[in-house]
Amino acid sequence: MTHRINSFDEYKEQYEKSVTNPESFWAEVAETFSWYKKWDQVLEWDFRKPAVKWFKNAKLNITENCLDRHLETRPDQTAIIFEPNDPEAPVQKFTYRELHLAVCRAANALKANGIKKGDRVCFYMPMVPELAIGVLACARIGAVHSVVFAGFSAQALADRIKDASCKMVICSDFNNRGAKHIPVKNVVDDALKMDCDSIETVLVHRNTGDGIEWTEGRDKWWHEEVDPQSGDCPAEVMDAEDMLFILYTSGSTGKPKGVVHTCGGYMVYTTYSFKNVFQYREGDVYWCTADIGWITGHSYIVYGPLAAGATTVMFEGVPTYPHAGRFWEVVEKHKVNQFYTAPTAIRALMAFGDEPVKKYDLTSLRILGSVGEPINEEAWNWYHETVGNKGCPIVDTWWQTETGGIMISGLGGLSPMKPAHAGYPLPGVQLCLVDNEGVEIEGNDVEGLLCVKFPWPSILRTTYGDHERCRTTYFAMFEDKYFTGDGARRDENGMYRIIGRVDDVLNVSGHRMGTAEVENAINEHPKVVESAVVGYPHDIKGQGIYAYVITTEEVSDEDAFAKEVRDVVTREIGPIAKPDRIQVVSGLPKTRSGKIMRRILRKVASGDTSNLGDTSTLLNPEIVEEIKSGAKQ
Ligand code: WTA
Repeated sequence: MTHRINSFDEYKEQYEKSVTNPESFWAEVAETFSWYKKWDQVLEWDFRKPAVKWFKNAKLNITENCLDRHLETRPDQTAIIFEPNDPEAPVQKFTYRELHLAVCRAANALKANGIKKGDRVCFYMPMVPELAIGVLACARIGAVHSVVFAGFSAQALADRIKDASCKMVICSDFNNRGAKHIPVKNVVDDALKMDCDSIETVLVHRNTGDGIEWTEGRDKWWHEEVDPQSGDCPAEVMDAEDMLFILYTSGSTGKPKGVVHTCGGYMVYTTYSFKNVFQYREGDVYWCTADIGWITGHSYIVYGPLAAGATTVMFEGVPTYPHAGRFWEVVEKHKVNQFYTAPTAIRALMAFGDEPVKKYDLTSLRILGSVGEPINEEAWNWYHETVGNKGCPIVDTWWQTETGGIMISGLGGLSPMKPAHAGYPLPGVQLCLVDNEGVEIEGNDVEGLLCVKFPWPSILRTTYGDHERCRTTYFAMFEDKYFTGDGARRDENGMYRIIGRVDDVLNVSGHRMGTAEVENAINEHPKVVESAVVGYPHDIKGQGIYAYVITTEEVSDEDAFAKEVRDVVTREIGPIAKPDRIQVVSGLPKTRSGKIMRRILRKVASGDTSNLGDTSTLLNPEIVEEIKSGAKQ
């Protein structure tokens, strides 16, 4: 495989080259892919609009790169290993040849159901092979996929279907997740009652075989539509800048944004970063535990690994079912070489001690990865010592839905490591730290707002249906820079440490959540007048959700009320957004201009009430005492 960096010195050389001559750097990487037609120009960009085009006028199909080109070199190599929720259930394996066939059949079924290039298809599915197959089938025919994490509520699903005017939903009947048995199709039925007029077809994958309601004419079985199809489906010729997918993510306002990624740059960057960060070698077995409902699953379960010709594990279950050694059992079973998970999972498993880890043979492991939130030193050390037996480098990968691929990370085993530090930027990633005025902070041993000042190939291109929102959210804050929303520190050696979000976005168990989104949901409760949501440090989740709520009338049973509020949030967004702590208050601390002073709420929520700072500018300073004395711990 070309373009694998093999030493830290080589990394430095490549990085230098990627900055001094980005176009020739990325053109060389892109040469290693298969294109129907090469680009006229490598890059054209203007962050003020924003308008970014990589590999201008080039033509390709990403599935040709993920599937067809491997048919010559590795047709019988395993592409996907599917490990089901139940350890006793059979493992499924797809070679590249089998996966190619499955994707072509599914693609023909989509076509037969009227899906064409540019149409949007929504997925609401558990982690089963048909999800990866369906996503690739869309890419095959140029349809745009929008995968919605199957833990979201019917309301959240409906909002996303409507925003992108999806023509089809692909779902399963039921979903097995740990000990839970979840009626997935039922949620889809509920969502479609909420004015989702654009939906013509619901394609249902029979996963558990449980009985479901059926709407004649609209609902169709996956196996009936897909199985009879021909395995020959020529790939649609796509422009490098044609849309590949939409993925919704939370921001600081109430409405999730549909982040748009395009075909060419996304393919080049996810593959390049996959090979280098995980130091993937031929024959390795790689496992990322994320869900395909999030960007990590898109880029580092499906597209990056498959384009690199890797063997990628898909896991249906959860880390602790049926026991706390489940992850390590799977590592042993499939002889996993690279293991990529989230700090919240590491912390949750750490709580069970070393015993469940020590039971399994983990000697196949070579690289350990972390993603989604800052990893604290204690979790880092446990991961390194207990899971990695001190022999596996940890790559702490910082990136975002919007960046498409890993931006800051060590390259497994090559780069210096420091707990809680993501490290150095990948080649092509030109970072900077700025102050509140946007002035760049030079030198090392400094802290600031993390920005990127030059495009990389997998940068988001727009937010679906609202380009202005993309501009104001990411590109208008500081001139000619992409603003990440994160604060960071650059240490004396130039290594980056991510401090966390500086906007009103929470990171709960690695899931991004806008405080405004949770507040909007809470406010749907008929007795709620107003609410304010903040994050507080949580041992396992990283951040917990703390809600301050003003009610229309006095609440006699706070526990019962809290349950009702949690139920409303579960209905509006999903269980992942449920507040951990709910405090009923008679008012919220507000400035004279009516702005909630969240700084105070955050301090109270984290149990730090010793020094609340200046409260004299508050309209209602007396409320602070009440909030302090009623704080939930
Ligand atoms: C946070 C997930 C610290 C960060 C790929 C970012 C991290 C947000 C790390 C994006 C990390 C992600 N260290 N923080 N290694 N990785 N984050 O869009 O705040 O779900 O802005 O993408 O997660 O979350 P998203």
